[in-house]
Amino acid sequence: LANGLAKTPPMGWNSWNHFNCKIDENIIKETADALVSTGLAKLGYIYVNIDDCWAELVRDKEGNLVGKKSTFPSGIKALADYVHRKGLKLGIYSDAGYFTCSKQMPGSLGHEEKDAKSFASWGIDYLKYDNCNNDGSNPTVRYPVMTRSLMKAGRPIFFSLCEWGDMHPALWGAPVGNSWRTTNDISDTWESMVSRADMNEVYAELARPGGWNDPDMLEVGNGGMTKDEYIVHFSIWAISKAPLLIGCDVRNATKETMEIIANKEVIAVNQDSLGIQAKKVRMQGDLEIWAGQLSRYRVALLLVNRGPWRNSITAHWDDIGIPPSSVVQARDLWEHKTLKEQFVGNLTATVNSHGCKMYVLKPIS
Ligand code: DGJ
Repeated sequence: LANGLAKTPPMGWNSWNHFNCKIDENIIKETADALVSTGLAKLGYIYVNIDDCWAELVRDKEGNLVGKKSTFPSGIKALADYVHRKGLKLGIYSDAGYFTCSKQMPGSLGHEEKDAKSFASWGIDYLKYDNCNNDGSNPTVRYPVMTRSLMKAGRPIFFSLCEWGDMHPALWGAPVGNSWRTTNDISDTWESMVSRADMNEVYAELARPGGWNDPDMLEVGNGGMTKDEYIVHFSIWAISKAPLLIGCDVRNATKETMEIIANKEVIAVNQDSLGIQAKKVRMQGDLEIWAGQLSRYRVALLLVNRGPWRNSITAHWDDIGIPPSSVVQARDLWEHKTLKEQFVGNLTATVNSHGCKMYVLKPIS
């Protein structure tokens, strides 16, 4: 969407994967505090996004959405001010239907202009727009109504289309939003995560600065996968130029979780200025090679082992867009080491079951 935002994929946090409907203003404030104190904000995680269940079920007399009195007593404007004072941005959530998915608050269908104005007046920076409980009309009609309302509201607001991929929003999302879901909801398991990665990969060509494919939010730190599996999760999201929206309780993130979500070198792949989404360029059974061009003639390479045994994986230059005779220097992004060996034609690595190796390859001659 041409609103000047999302030159690189958005980074931040969202309340849904960990807290579901059990949110309140203190959780949001403490999360903002934690993003700053842990250093995550400095790494680029600047959006603090409230998901479903933040509003009263009934609009006020003027028809405005209002923050739920019992959980957001200070109101959303005060929360936005708090978050802005920390140098962060506040995201909120609504739905292109009569009620949101939780049915605990109204949606914006038929109230788009009013709600967009409220969001802008509160200082909202990001809107996630869900698709539950609608009138059955085409999302290609309902979503642009909110796009136009946001564009008129007088504040740049990142617009995240949450249509779950059924009507292939990747095919029509570019002029409508800054990101579009390509999948239904992720859950905190290996199977769910890799299947979302696959559904999202199909649309790789359609990602570009200003509009990104969204395979749903991160589960890293929520406990359902092993460390290696979470590293695969984070690596695929990063190389796929997916939004990096942390979905755990960052106030209590473990050292292991921090090591993953705070990996600067992997984040830099995600935030590369070219904005090219990597593709799965080769599969050999359970062994996969993902690659995508980076700025300055570099290539991001991800070797994923989805099988039950440790195995070796070889990436060939002709599969990953490097000239066959190029001599390449490889930086291992999880070991934080530049390999001593230089590579010509291919690179082979041993990869753990449900693990990965991630590199930035730099042709040096
Ligand atoms: C469905 C979305 O896909 C989820 O990410 C979350 O926003 C829930 N709805 C909230 O009800």
